[in-house]
Amino acid sequence: MVIVYFSGTGNSKYIAEKFADRMQIEAHSIEENIDFGKIFDKVDTIAVCYPIYGSCVSLIMREFVKKYIHFLKVKS
Ligand SMILES: Cc1cc2nc3c(=O)[nH]c(=O)nc-3n(C[C@H](O)[C@H](O)[C@H](O)COP(=O)(O)O)c2cc1C
Repeated sequence: MVIVYFSGTGNSKYIAEKFADRMQIEAHSIEENIDFGKIFDKVDTIAVCYPIYGSCVSLIMREFVKKYIHFLKVKS
């Protein structure tokens, strides 16, 4: 398992890192300049953590999901 997160003011980052620590997994901000495909390839579960802004999922998270939809569809 891995957890990926977006956090504007730090709350989601705090939660994602707590979760990662408890689960002994990696946590990555979707703003990191890394190959998420490589990370997603190695895990069976992808957890996602993000805030709600204006009753919506933020654009940056929607774009991330669009980019990696292939992985998100086949993992739990
Ligand atoms: C501009 C803005 C809009 C928000 N809109 C909503 C909302 O529509 N519904 C909601 O439940 N929370 C809303 N919130 C609260 C955030 O979702 C909440 O503070 C969240 O913990 C922020 O996470 P972050 O620190 O990871 O960015 C909003 C916060 C901001 C700053």
